[in-house]
Amino acid sequence: MVNKITVVGAGNVGATTAQRIAEKELARRVVMVDVAEGIPQGKALDQWQSAPIEGFDSRVIGTNGYDETAGSDVVVITAGIARKPGMSRDDLLNTNAGIVRQVSEQIRATSPEAIVIVVSNPLDVMCWVAKEVTGFPRERVIGMAGVLDTARYRAFLAEAMDVSVRDIQAMVLGGHGDTMVPLISYTSVSGIPVTQLLDREKLEAIVDRTRSGGAEIVKHLKTGSAYYAPSAGAVQMVEAIVKDQKRILPCAAWLEGEYGMKGHFLGVPCKLGRGGIGSVLEVELTADERGALERSAAAVLEPMQAIKL
Ligand code: APR
Repeated sequence: MVNKITVVGAGNVGATTAQRIAEKELARRVVMVDVAEGIPQGKALDQWQSAPIEGFDSRVIGTNGYDETAGSDVVVITAGIARKPGMSRDDLLNTNAGIVRQVSEQIRATSPEAIVIVVSNPLDVMCWVAKEVTGFPRERVIGMAGVLDTARYRAFLAEAMDVSVRDIQAMVLGGHGDTMVPLISYTSVSGIPVTQLLDREKLEAIVDRTRSGGAEIVKHLKTGSAYYAPSAGAVQMVEAIVKDQKRILPCAAWLEGEYGMKGHFLGVPCKLGRGGIGSVLEVELTADERGALERSAAAVLEPMQAIKL
C-alpha cells in the first residue's frame, strides 16, 4: 500500500478506477480530481460510504483542485472526452491534448515524483503530451492500452474455445487503435499454442474483433465508451507498481531504440514494478508482425506530429 494515488477525471473510467483502487486497498488515500463541480466530491463520498460494506480502509476523497493530490505516488489520467458513435479515437485529439496538457502541468507542480498512467485517448499521443509537459523520465509515464486490448482478445478466445480466461496467455502490442498488433505466435492456452486449438479463420476473426473491440462497445452505448475493462486495466498496472510485482504487461512506453524505433510511444512488453517501467522487453517477431508494428508506429506518429505543444 502506498500513501496516495490520484485519479484525474471522475467520469466513467476515472470513478470506476478510483473505486477499484480503494477496494483493493492499494493506497491509504485515493483522490479523485475533476473540473466538474460537485462530481468528484459526490462520487468520492458515495464510494467512501461503500467502505464499511466492502471492508476497505482506503479513504476516498473528491476535489476540484490539486492541493489534496500533492505528493501522490501514482497518478492515473482519465480526463477528457469519451468517444461517441462514428468518432475514432483520433477525433478526440485536439480536445484531449489540451486537457491532458493542463492536467500534466498540475501534476508536474504538485506530484513531481509520481508515476503517471495515462488512459485518455488517443492513448499513444496523450502519453507523449504527458511526458513532454511533465518532463518525467520514460520509467514514470506509461500508457494503459495493451492490457485492455489483450484482455479483450483473451475474453474472445476464451469464449470461442469455452475455456477459462485464466488459461489464455497473450500479448497485444502496437498503438491503441485499428493498427494494434495481436501476436498470434505468442498466444497460448495453458502453454498450448493457440494455433493447435483454433483454426486460422476463427483466429483471424477474433483478431479483427479485438481491433474494433472499443468501437463495438461505443456502438452499443451510444453516449460514451467502455469503462469497466479500461479501469480494470489501469488498476492492474497500478497494482503491479504499488506491490512491486515486476509483472510483464503490454504497456505504451516511450521507445528509445527498442524494435528499431525511438521518439514516440507504442505498446510493447514492459516489466512493471515500484519505479514504473523497469525494462522494455524485445521479443522476436515474425516478418508479418514486425511489419504490422511498423505500420502501427506510423499511425501513432501522424497525429502526434499534427499537434503543437
Ligand atoms: N481536468 C480534470 N478532469 C477533466 C478535465 C480537466 N481539465 N476536462 C474534463 N475532465 C473530466 C470531465 O469533467 C469528465 O468527468 O473528465 C471526465 C471524463 O469522463 P467521461 O466523460 O465519463 O469519459 P470516460 O468514459 O471516463 O473516458 C475518459 O478515457 O478511455 C478514455 O477515450 C476515453 O479519453 C477518454 C477518457
